[in-house]
Amino acid sequence: MHAQSPSTPARPLPFAPRPVPLSATLAVNEALHRKRGQGMRVLPLGFGEAGIPIHPALARELEAAAGRGAYGPVAGSAALRAAAAGYWSRRGTPTDPSSVVCGPGSKPLLFALLMALGGDVVVPAPSWVTYAAQTALVGAEPVRVATPPGEGGVPSPALLADAVVRARRRGRTVRAVVVTLPDNPTGTLAAEDTVRRLCSVARDLDLVVISDEIYRDLVHEPGRTVPSPVRFAPERAVVTTALSKSLAAGGWRLGVARLPDGPFGRALRDSVLGVASEVWSSAPAPMQHAAAYAFAEPPELVEHVDRSRRLHAAVAAAVADRFAAAGARVPRPQAAFYVYPDLGPLREALGEGHGVRTAEDLTSLLLERYGVGVLPGSSFGDPPAALRMRVAPSLLYGEDDEQRLAALASPAPAALPWIAGALDRLGEVLADLAESAAAPQPAPA
Ligand SMILES: Cc1ncc(COP(=O)(O)O)c(C=O)c1O
Repeated sequence: MHAQSPSTPARPLPFAPRPVPLSATLAVNEALHRKRGQGMRVLPLGFGEAGIPIHPALARELEAAAGRGAYGPVAGSAALRAAAAGYWSRRGTPTDPSSVVCGPGSKPLLFALLMALGGDVVVPAPSWVTYAAQTALVGAEPVRVATPPGEGGVPSPALLADAVVRARRRGRTVRAVVVTLPDNPTGTLAAEDTVRRLCSVARDLDLVVISDEIYRDLVHEPGRTVPSPVRFAPERAVVTTALSKSLAAGGWRLGVARLPDGPFGRALRDSVLGVASEVWSSAPAPMQHAAAYAFAEPPELVEHVDRSRRLHAAVAAAVADRFAAAGARVPRPQAAFYVYPDLGPLREALGEGHGVRTAEDLTSLLLERYGVGVLPGSSFGDPPAALRMRVAPSLLYGEDDEQRLAALASPAPAALPWIAGALDRLGEVLADLAESAAAPQPAPA
């Protein structure tokens, strides 16, 4: 350590750093950690992590590539880009490896895209917290457009044109619209006709369509296809995906983007690569090797994803049932590991019994009184007064890999003692909430 020289006394800086709040999903995790530290029994339903162990074959591939220390190409290795192209081609979107760009997660790729597009971005309301936050980080404005009822992840095509025309009249430059297929936070999947109409409006308005398809392989109903915008507006659709959700490798940080063919797509790719070259240089080489293996979809990984899809479907449905039993309105979860209940039907009782007026009041009550960590709908751009929240049950699958593997293998995971126990606790909390809301609380002594 250097001793401080007496001639250069410490001097406070005369400015504050730009305030950038911690992403709401990460913040709820930290709050729960504190509660657990205080000895409270907690139900961690806030963080959108897949909650499944890494498949051993994937770990073996990573280990085999640990010696790869060189940076490699900014766009990613030829092997990874070819494998990702194959992944999309098998899903009905013929893809040339030259259209694929990889990065350390799809989040940074999205950031590079928004940076390269350089304009305001239409985001669905509600939508994943990061779209609006990243739009602001690149110095642009999110234009929030409500989703059609029951179809999360896609701004209502009927409202899109009006919102964009109004923003442009204010002098704003709107360049893109983001869709999430299937959706986080609602766990639903928009209908094909809605996506087709959205693409038609995007074409009329000269918007790029960014389709975040990170949950694509986690649609609960077997055989239901995801209506990707790339089918309806290939000249302007960018698709992103990653290993984070279907293979539960979020911490590995590996994502891929598919850019459109043609002059605009190539120019966009060049700009994205420019941003990538100045921010992350290249995605980690050992991860790229493992990802090339994953995107080739060997049978053992396909089966693993299949089982995780069944686990997510079973537990999300059981959670939705608990909320419905307590009197909430709950869209049936259709994909991924999210439930998005609306406690609007209990509004009067919650207001009188607990002073709950907003989604944030409700989620603070759940956290402070019951140790239940969920996120308010307002974090996703829902109006603050709507009593909706996102519930992510995947951290209930087990405390350790042994329990998580048992959950993956079980034909009835919601009946496993540790999952059933958590579901019962959730049921009790909701019943208590509804009951004590109905009977006003005595004032604290
Ligand atoms: C809709 C959506 N897109 C992207 C991500 C993150 O992707 P990655 O881990 O590839 O950066 C998440 C994670 O929560 C998500 O919910």
